[in-house]
Amino acid sequence: MKILVLNGPTLNLLGTREPHIYGTTTLAEIERDLMTVGAELGVTVVCAQSNHEGELIDRIQAAHGDADGILINAGAYSHTSLAIRDALAAVALPYAEVHLSNIFAREPERRHSTLAAGARAVVCGFGAPGYALALRGLVAALRA
Ligand code: DQA
Repeated sequence: MKILVLNGPTLNLLGTREPHIYGTTTLAEIERDLMTVGAELGVTVVCAQSNHEGELIDRIQAAHGDADGILINAGAYSHTSLAIRDALAAVALPYAEVHLSNIFAREPERRHSTLAAGARAVVCGFGAPGYALALRGLVAALRA
């Protein structure tokens, strides 16, 4: 089993970006943790990050026939991007949406996700550990 982990804009700056909201764990540390969890679960984890909507869409499209599921934190695109939602719908891969912060407890414009309705599950508000929780949940759902 192979899971694509996709992070969107400005998540490359985790660690120093608004640490009071997103914590101090870097994206590299999160990805390392996911690799470890993947090894424990016997799944291949492939991680990618982009600040560009089109590149995220290209990655999603490339996952078709290659990955079994997607873990995605699309960052601010989560609130706006019909294009990313369309790409996820087109490849029809089960996906889990992750957010470090509890988007429902933040500004009104962050309280809606364009991706949530199509997601197998949404994990938000647990900070960096939320990624591993989402990975475990997605793999369990795929194996059920
Ligand atoms: C985020 C929440 C988004 O509103 C924000 O634009 C991000 C990070 C989160 O992980 O909490 O970039 O997706």
